[in-house]
Amino acid sequence: MNNAQTASLALMGRGLVQSFGERSVLDGADVDLHHGDVLAIVGVSGSGKSTLLYALAGLRQPQGGTVAWGGHADVWKLHEPEITLVRRATCGFVFQFPAFLNDLTVAANVAVPLVVSGDKPRDARERSRELLDRFGLGPLAKEYPSTLSGGELQRASIARALIMEPSIVFCDEPTGALDESNSELVVGEVQRIAEEFGVGVLIVTHDPSVWAKCDRVLRLDQGRLVEEGTAS
Ligand SMILES: Nc1ncnc2c1ncn2[C@@H]1O[C@H](COP(=O)(O)OP(=O)(O)O)[C@@H](O)[C@H]1O
Ligand SMILES: [Mg+2]
Repeated sequence: MNNAQTASLALMGRGLVQSFGERSVLDGADVDLHHGDVLAIVGVSGSGKSTLLYALAGLRQPQGGTVAWGGHADVWKLHEPEITLVRRATCGFVFQFPAFLNDLTVAANVAVPLVVSGDKPRDARERSRELLDRFGLGPLAKEYPSTLSGGELQRASIARALIMEPSIVFCDEPTGALDESNSELVVGEVQRIAEEFGVGVLIVTHDPSVWAKCDRVLRLDQGRLVEEGTAS
């Protein structure tokens, strides 16, 4: 791979290794994710998808291998607090069950990462409302999370994942708790953040209707990633 190709990568993982006791979970897993692409990671339960996501997202150090985010050097050569600071600026997260603070409005929740990194609450809320508008969630900005449906909350959590303008968004089973129509809406938003915002999206999912809409599908099998091709 030449330098120009490497520069267009949002995320590169090489030779990732992780065992728990006798059990080898990652055994030389390699991943490339380009800006603007949606990459699905699939595999049976217990195959190591979450372990892989944690290693790629700088959340838990693997026993071997390297991870690079865009132009940054090996993430796992960094130490705290750098790794947390770089992660905050580079990575967004969407989980199966989005966590919101119940006594803050949706706009204030989406603004939390900006406030934590030092923005004035009023400016942060304004940016959060702009982002919610872009996702058609403007009318919900002043609502409290407990009044939203699961689908609405997940769409708001996708907006929240973008508030720091990350280059990578990691999604762990984002449609796992949603019905079919909400799942379709959420996948549509995931595709949109890749296309419109140029974000590289890595999505762990066991839902074949989601795979069909991804640019690439890799299956985690015996600790390695193999090309699955898309269903379409
Ligand atoms: N911290 C840990 N300690 C021991 N075993 C673990 C730990 N985390 C994951 N595992 C084991 O590693 C395997 C893969 O887990 P996981 O990555 O959660 O799989 P998936 O997300 O594909 O369901 C499982 O057998 C799980 O029990
Ligand atoms: Mg998992």
